[in-house]
Amino acid sequence: MKQITIAIDGFSSTGKSTIAKQIAKHLGYVYVDSGAMYRAITYFAMQNNFIAKDFFKADILVANLERITISFKFNPNVGFAEVYLNGENIEHAIRTLEVSGFVSKVAAIPEVRYLLVKQQQNLGKDKGVVMDGRDIGTVVFPYAELKIFMTASADTRAQRRFDELIKRGDKVQYQDVLTNVQERDYIDSHREDSPLVKADDAIEIDNSHLTRAEQFDKVLQLVNSTLKE
Ligand code: DC
Repeated sequence: MKQITIAIDGFSSTGKSTIAKQIAKHLGYVYVDSGAMYRAITYFAMQNNFIAKDFFKADILVANLERITISFKFNPNVGFAEVYLNGENIEHAIRTLEVSGFVSKVAAIPEVRYLLVKQQQNLGKDKGVVMDGRDIGTVVFPYAELKIFMTASADTRAQRRFDELIKRGDKVQYQDVLTNVQERDYIDSHREDSPLVKADDAIEIDNSHLTRAEQFDKVLQLVNSTLKE
Protein backbone atom coordinates (compact mmCIF):
# COMPACT_ATOMS: atom_id res chain seq x y z
CA MET A 1 0.00 0.00 0.00
CA LYS A 2 1.07 3.58 -0.69
CA GLN A 3 2.99 5.20 2.22
CA ILE A 4 2.27 8.81 3.09
CA THR A 5 3.54 11.46 5.48
CA ILE A 6 1.08 12.72 8.09
CA ALA A 7 1.85 16.05 9.79
CA ILE A 8 -0.08 16.94 12.95
CA ASP A 9 0.45 20.44 14.29
CA GLY A 10 -1.32 22.59 16.81
CA PHE A 11 -1.22 24.37 20.15
CA SER A 12 0.18 22.73 23.27
CA SER A 13 -1.87 20.00 24.94
CA THR A 14 -4.36 19.63 22.10
CA GLY A 15 -3.92 15.86 22.18
CA LYS A 16 -1.70 15.77 19.09
CA SER A 17 0.46 12.96 20.40
CA THR A 18 -2.55 10.86 21.45
CA ILE A 19 -4.07 10.88 17.98
CA ALA A 20 -0.67 10.63 16.25
CA LYS A 21 0.18 7.48 18.26
CA GLN A 22 -3.24 5.92 17.56
CA ILE A 23 -3.01 6.55 13.82
CA ALA A 24 0.62 5.39 13.58
CA LYS A 25 -0.27 2.17 15.41
CA HIS A 26 -3.31 1.58 13.20
CA LEU A 27 -1.32 2.08 9.98
CA GLY A 28 1.91 0.45 11.19
CA TYR A 29 3.69 3.78 10.65
CA VAL A 30 6.54 5.31 12.64
CA TYR A 31 5.43 7.93 15.18
CA VAL A 32 7.80 10.81 15.91
CA ASP A 33 7.13 13.26 18.77
CA SER A 34 9.09 16.31 17.59
CA GLY A 35 8.24 18.21 20.79
CA ALA A 36 10.16 15.55 22.73
CA MET A 37 13.28 16.56 20.79
CA TYR A 38 12.91 20.22 21.83
CA ARG A 39 12.22 19.04 25.37
CA ALA A 40 15.38 16.85 25.27
CA ILE A 41 17.56 19.86 24.40
CA THR A 42 15.82 21.87 27.13
CA TYR A 43 16.52 19.10 29.63
CA PHE A 44 20.18 19.07 28.56
CA ALA A 45 20.31 22.88 29.06
CA MET A 46 18.80 22.54 32.53
CA GLN A 47 21.19 19.77 33.56
CA ASN A 48 24.17 21.82 32.43
CA ASN A 49 22.96 25.01 34.12
CA PHE A 50 22.53 26.87 30.84
CA ILE A 51 18.95 27.77 31.71
CA ALA A 52 17.15 28.51 34.98
CA LYS A 53 14.40 30.84 36.21
CA ASP A 54 16.54 33.98 36.03
CA PHE A 55 18.98 33.31 33.16
CA PHE A 56 19.34 31.62 29.79
CA LYS A 57 22.82 31.20 28.33
CA ALA A 58 21.57 30.61 24.80
CA ASP A 59 24.99 31.14 23.16
CA ILE A 60 26.60 28.53 25.40
CA LEU A 61 23.81 26.08 24.67
CA VAL A 62 24.32 26.62 20.93
CA ALA A 63 28.08 26.05 21.32
CA ASN A 64 27.32 22.74 23.07
CA LEU A 65 24.71 21.38 20.66
CA GLU A 66 27.21 18.95 19.19
CA ARG A 67 27.38 17.18 22.57
CA ILE A 68 23.71 16.19 22.19
CA THR A 69 22.54 12.96 20.60
CA ILE A 70 18.79 12.39 20.58
CA SER A 71 17.41 8.98 19.66
CA PHE A 72 14.13 7.08 19.85
CA LYS A 73 13.74 3.46 20.88
CA PHE A 74 10.48 1.53 20.60
CA ASN A 75 9.23 0.29 23.97
CA PRO A 76 6.76 -2.56 23.43
CA ASN A 77 5.39 -2.10 26.97
CA VAL A 78 4.05 1.37 26.16
CA GLY A 79 3.58 0.86 22.41
CA PHE A 80 5.61 3.82 21.16
CA ALA A 81 9.21 4.98 20.77
CA GLU A 82 10.66 6.66 23.86
CA VAL A 83 13.17 9.47 23.66
CA TYR A 84 16.81 9.15 24.75
CA LEU A 85 19.37 11.86 25.41
CA ASN A 86 22.95 10.64 24.99
CA GLY A 87 21.80 7.09 25.70
CA GLU A 88 19.64 7.93 28.76
CA ASN A 89 15.88 7.34 28.65
CA ILE A 90 14.37 10.75 29.45
CA GLU A 91 10.78 10.07 28.37
CA HIS A 92 9.44 10.68 31.89
CA ALA A 93 11.87 13.44 32.92
CA ILE A 94 10.98 15.77 30.02
CA ARG A 95 7.25 15.90 30.82
CA THR A 96 7.51 18.04 33.96
CA LEU A 97 6.00 21.51 34.26
CA GLU A 98 9.55 22.80 34.82
CA VAL A 99 10.72 21.58 31.39
CA SER A 100 7.47 22.91 29.88
CA GLY A 101 8.29 26.29 31.44
CA PHE A 102 11.60 26.59 29.56
CA VAL A 103 11.04 24.67 26.33
CA SER A 104 9.48 27.45 24.25
CA LYS A 105 12.54 29.67 24.87
CA VAL A 106 14.87 26.90 23.71
CA ALA A 107 12.64 26.11 20.71
CA ALA A 108 12.85 29.75 19.57
CA ILE A 109 16.63 29.50 18.92
CA PRO A 110 17.27 29.19 15.14
CA GLU A 111 20.34 26.91 15.58
CA VAL A 112 18.28 24.50 17.68
CA ARG A 113 15.50 24.45 15.09
CA TYR A 114 17.92 24.00 12.19
CA LEU A 115 19.51 20.98 13.87
CA LEU A 116 16.22 19.32 14.84
CA VAL A 117 14.42 19.99 11.54
CA LYS A 118 17.26 18.19 9.69
CA GLN A 119 16.97 15.22 12.07
CA GLN A 120 13.16 15.17 11.74
CA GLN A 121 13.35 15.24 7.94
CA ASN A 122 15.77 12.35 8.09
CA LEU A 123 13.45 10.34 10.40
CA GLY A 124 10.64 10.80 7.85
CA LYS A 125 12.61 10.35 4.64
CA ASP A 126 11.05 6.97 3.81
CA LYS A 127 7.46 8.18 4.44
CA GLY A 128 5.13 5.98 6.47
CA VAL A 129 5.51 8.47 9.31
CA VAL A 130 3.19 10.40 11.61
CA MET A 131 4.96 13.37 13.18
CA ASP A 132 3.43 15.89 15.57
CA GLY A 133 4.70 19.33 16.50
CA ARG A 134 4.30 23.00 15.64
CA ASP A 135 5.97 23.37 12.22
CA ILE A 136 5.68 19.90 10.70
CA GLY A 137 3.26 20.83 7.92
CA THR A 138 4.85 24.24 7.30
CA VAL A 139 8.61 23.63 7.59
CA VAL A 140 9.60 20.00 8.20
CA PHE A 141 7.31 18.33 5.64
CA PRO A 142 5.70 21.09 3.55
CA TYR A 143 4.76 18.42 0.98
CA ALA A 144 3.11 16.04 3.48
CA GLU A 145 0.11 14.35 1.86
CA LEU A 146 -2.05 14.95 4.95
CA LYS A 147 -1.78 17.90 7.33
CA ILE A 148 -3.93 18.28 10.41
CA PHE A 149 -4.09 21.30 12.70
CA MET A 150 -5.49 20.58 16.16
CA THR A 151 -7.13 23.20 18.35
CA ALA A 152 -9.09 23.29 21.62
CA SER A 153 -9.84 26.03 24.14
CA ALA A 154 -7.00 26.95 26.54
CA ASP A 155 -9.14 25.83 29.51
CA THR A 156 -9.81 22.42 28.00
CA ARG A 157 -6.12 21.94 27.23
CA ALA A 158 -4.94 23.09 30.66
CA GLN A 159 -7.42 20.76 32.36
CA ARG A 160 -6.17 17.81 30.27
CA ARG A 161 -2.52 18.59 31.02
CA PHE A 162 -3.31 19.16 34.72
CA ASP A 163 -5.07 15.75 34.93
CA GLU A 164 -2.07 14.09 33.22
CA LEU A 165 0.46 15.66 35.62
CA ILE A 166 -1.62 14.75 38.69
CA LYS A 167 -1.94 11.18 37.40
CA ARG A 168 1.87 11.01 37.14
CA GLY A 169 2.08 12.09 40.78
CA ASP A 170 3.39 15.62 40.11
CA LYS A 171 2.30 18.29 42.60
CA VAL A 172 0.99 21.13 40.44
CA GLN A 173 -1.66 23.84 40.62
CA TYR A 174 -4.24 24.18 37.84
CA GLN A 175 -3.54 27.91 37.53
CA ASP A 176 0.19 27.29 36.91
CA VAL A 177 -0.63 24.76 34.19
CA LEU A 178 -3.06 27.20 32.53
CA THR A 179 -0.47 29.99 32.66
CA ASN A 180 2.14 27.68 31.10
CA VAL A 181 -0.24 26.67 28.29
CA GLN A 182 -1.05 30.33 27.55
CA GLU A 183 2.60 31.45 27.70
CA ARG A 184 3.73 28.64 25.39
CA ASP A 185 0.91 29.42 22.93
CA TYR A 186 2.12 33.02 22.84
CA ILE A 187 5.85 32.31 22.48
CA ASP A 188 5.33 29.45 19.98
CA SER A 189 3.12 31.56 17.73
CA HIS A 190 5.11 34.80 17.97
CA ARG A 191 8.71 33.57 17.56
CA GLU A 192 10.52 34.79 14.46
CA ASP A 193 11.77 31.39 13.26
CA SER A 194 9.01 29.00 12.13
CA PRO A 195 6.17 30.31 14.32
CA LEU A 196 3.20 28.06 14.97
CA VAL A 197 0.75 28.76 12.15
CA LYS A 198 -1.77 26.59 10.39
CA ALA A 199 -0.50 25.53 6.96
CA ASP A 200 -2.84 26.75 4.19
CA ASP A 201 -3.61 23.18 3.19
CA ALA A 202 -4.03 21.81 6.74
CA ILE A 203 -7.40 20.54 7.95
CA GLU A 204 -8.39 22.06 11.28
CA ILE A 205 -9.94 19.91 13.99
CA ASP A 206 -11.26 21.49 17.18
CA ASN A 207 -11.44 18.61 19.64
CA SER A 208 -12.81 20.56 22.65
CA HIS A 209 -16.00 18.50 22.47
CA LEU A 210 -14.79 15.31 20.79
CA THR A 211 -14.16 12.01 22.53
CA ARG A 212 -10.93 10.17 21.69
CA ALA A 213 -12.95 7.66 19.66
CA GLU A 214 -14.74 10.39 17.68
CA GLN A 215 -11.45 12.13 17.01
CA PHE A 216 -9.84 8.89 15.86
CA ASP A 217 -12.74 8.16 13.45
CA LYS A 218 -12.52 11.64 12.00
CA VAL A 219 -8.77 11.48 11.38
CA LEU A 220 -8.95 7.93 10.05
CA GLN A 221 -11.52 9.06 7.48
CA LEU A 222 -9.11 11.78 6.37
CA VAL A 223 -6.28 9.27 6.16
CA ASN A 224 -8.36 6.84 4.10
CA SER A 225 -9.47 9.48 1.65
CA THR A 226 -5.86 10.70 1.29
CA LEU A 227 -4.69 7.16 0.63
CA LYS A 228 -7.30 6.84 -2.14
CA GLU A 229 -6.17 10.01 -3.93
O1 DC B 1 4.48 19.19 21.80
P1 DC B 1 5.18 19.63 23.10
O2 DC B 1 4.27 20.40 24.01
O3 DC B 1 5.86 18.52 23.81
O4 DC B 1 6.31 20.63 22.60
C1 DC B 1 7.15 21.28 23.50
C2 DC B 1 7.59 22.62 22.95
O5 DC B 1 8.47 22.43 21.85
C3 DC B 1 6.48 23.53 22.45
O6 DC B 1 6.07 24.46 23.41
C4 DC B 1 7.08 24.23 21.27
C5 DC B 1 8.25 23.40 20.86
N1 DC B 1 8.05 22.72 19.57
C6 DC B 1 8.39 23.40 18.44
O7 DC B 1 8.74 24.57 18.52
N2 DC B 1 8.34 22.79 17.23
C7 DC B 1 7.94 21.53 17.12
N3 DC B 1 7.91 20.94 15.92
C8 DC B 1 7.56 20.80 18.28
C9 DC B 1 7.62 21.44 19.50
